[in-house]
Amino acid sequence: MTFDQRATGAVAEVSEHGKGPTFEEILRRRLSRRQALKAGVVATAVVALGPGRGLNGVGQVEASTAAAPAAQAGTLTFAPIRPDTTDQVTVAEGYRSQVLVSWGDPLFPDLPPFDVNNQTAALQERRLGFNSDFVAYMPLPVGTRNPVEGLLWNNHEYTDGTMMFPGYDGKRTPTAEEVDVELAAHGASVLHIRRNGDGSWTYDSTSSYNRRITATTPMRISGPAAGAAMLQTDADPAGTSVLGMLNNCGGGWTPWGTILTCEENFHQYFYNAEQLADSDPRKAVHARYDLPPSSRDRDFRWHLYHERFDIAKHPNEPFRFGWVVEVDPYDPTFTPIKRTALGRFKHEASTAVLAQTGQVVVYSGDDQRFDYVYKFVSAGTVNTADRAANFDLLDTGTLYAARFDDDGSGTWLPLVYGQGPLTEANGFTSQADVLIRTRQAADALGATRMDRPEDVEANPVSGKVYMAMTNNTQRGADGRPAPNAANPRPNNAFGHVVEATEDGNDFTATTFRWEIFILAGDPADPSTYFAGFPNDQVSPIGNPDNIAFDSRGNLWIATDGQPNSLKVHDAIHAVPTEGPGRGHVQQLLSGVVGCEVASLAFNTDDSALFASIQHPGEGGSLEQPTSTWPNGLARSSVVVVTNAAGGPVGA
Ligand code: FEO
Ligand code: CA
Ligand code: CA
Repeated sequence: MTFDQRATGAVAEVSEHGKGPTFEEILRRRLSRRQALKAGVVATAVVALGPGRGLNGVGQVEASTAAAPAAQAGTLTFAPIRPDTTDQVTVAEGYRSQVLVSWGDPLFPDLPPFDVNNQTAALQERRLGFNSDFVAYMPLPVGTRNPVEGLLWNNHEYTDGTMMFPGYDGKRTPTAEEVDVELAAHGASVLHIRRNGDGSWTYDSTSSYNRRITATTPMRISGPAAGAAMLQTDADPAGTSVLGMLNNCGGGWTPWGTILTCEENFHQYFYNAEQLADSDPRKAVHARYDLPPSSRDRDFRWHLYHERFDIAKHPNEPFRFGWVVEVDPYDPTFTPIKRTALGRFKHEASTAVLAQTGQVVVYSGDDQRFDYVYKFVSAGTVNTADRAANFDLLDTGTLYAARFDDDGSGTWLPLVYGQGPLTEANGFTSQADVLIRTRQAADALGATRMDRPEDVEANPVSGKVYMAMTNNTQRGADGRPAPNAANPRPNNAFGHVVEATEDGNDFTATTFRWEIFILAGDPADPSTYFAGFPNDQVSPIGNPDNIAFDSRGNLWIATDGQPNSLKVHDAIHAVPTEGPGRGHVQQLLSGVVGCEVASLAFNTDDSALFASIQHPGEGGSLEQPTSTWPNGLARSSVVVVTNAAGGPVGA
């Protein structure tokens, strides 16, 4: 479901009031500047790193200065499909889609086939989790660019008892076993996959690489907030370890071949925040993170059987969620690590790029209406000779929140204790405090309130950074923040994409320039904009969410929300970012009834596009399904799309 649908009604406090300039005024101002700059935009070849693309030998990191091929205009050659409403995955002519793995499929030998009437937590811990989200292809062996054999990482964002359990209508109290199945269906999976001789892909259920991580897997907490008093609980008096990760939505991978998996809407698992005394300073923090202000029957009632989810009993437990978690997918025994230096918020994704300085930079969006875009810059540099030497690189560095100014400039505002407003005088007590209360620190700095920042990705050819804003139907309403230049639409039902260029094409820069790249919607709607490409030649698109680049610099966009905004299924589109085809949005794939396309990722030669088809049949129930995809029972799945003629997808 979209966040709008599962929002609890608690909207982030807003401070801006009054009317801003009209949409037309803002757009005209931005676009005329774009025209003025058009001839002056220089794209230096700065290579963002895909899986394996930054590694050579055994886990060694290549310098990022190798020139990438220049962006090719019109490198997309497929004939776009029309939006679709059938209950099957549809792809462009000449392409194939195949279901690679579905919820419940066994990841280990000697498991019976999935049976919806025989679910236990012990079985679910050994099967693919629910609601596939972030996908990544990590080549085998580590450090190679092998395009035909690798590890597939897959997040499992959340569970939906109505679509999981017979007779569960979302109202009756879940059983202890059902709750434990739900915990076991969260987290992530690692699967060993390979391409077969006929071009199809399969996963190997006997591989020792396969792994499940769940909402009960022991994890370590590291970085500046580790051990802080706010992270200490009865079960963990040291504040350095935690059971599980929650609501892992997007993610990314590092130049050294680890996965960054992101906790997003963790707020919805916690109960009884209202029982904290008003004088307890934690109450306001929980409110700023949208924890439910009143307890009522909700989707998740885990506190009934696991009291750590009851804030009245364990008021610090929510502070242990909302982090980026680093995992080595190549080591099934690796203890996942929550990296507190990257901040605590509803992380949609974490995209790591290697700067020319050798530092690693991680971009992330905070997916809530009127929240912020962030980046982290490591203090240290990547060790190109020793993979393991990089494993603590994300513990030390600077986190920034973005301010987008109306003149097309931007500033990265450092979230550093003692600097600017982040002082004792304003209630901040330490760097740990700043990180645990990242949102409030960014509020104090005056970062720009965005239209639900989702994925952020760097173009591997130009080095420009793209930021997907999925929608914000409350902008400009009832005293909520008015449109601004970077979020120019009131009632932004269709979302948009911002294109940023770091000053000096340096990912570590503290200033940048930015443009509107796409204002999504039905191209017949005059408020849409496709980087100047003629509207009558582009595919309709709404609600850009997860994005990815192919190695030629084409932007691929997965959507979440088209059933609401455009009344068609969610989809995958591709769009060139440079050359005459810049802005030419074309639809490659359509999902199925009730789904979102939650994530997409290429293998190392772009010959396979992996995508998560999440929550098919949402809105129905197990007994009264609205979708029977993929094979009779609606089951979230990862599909792989290939070019029937071979070669890269899209080209
Ligand atoms: Fe889980 Fe931001 O979508
Ligand atoms: Ca992405
Ligand atoms: Ca998402």
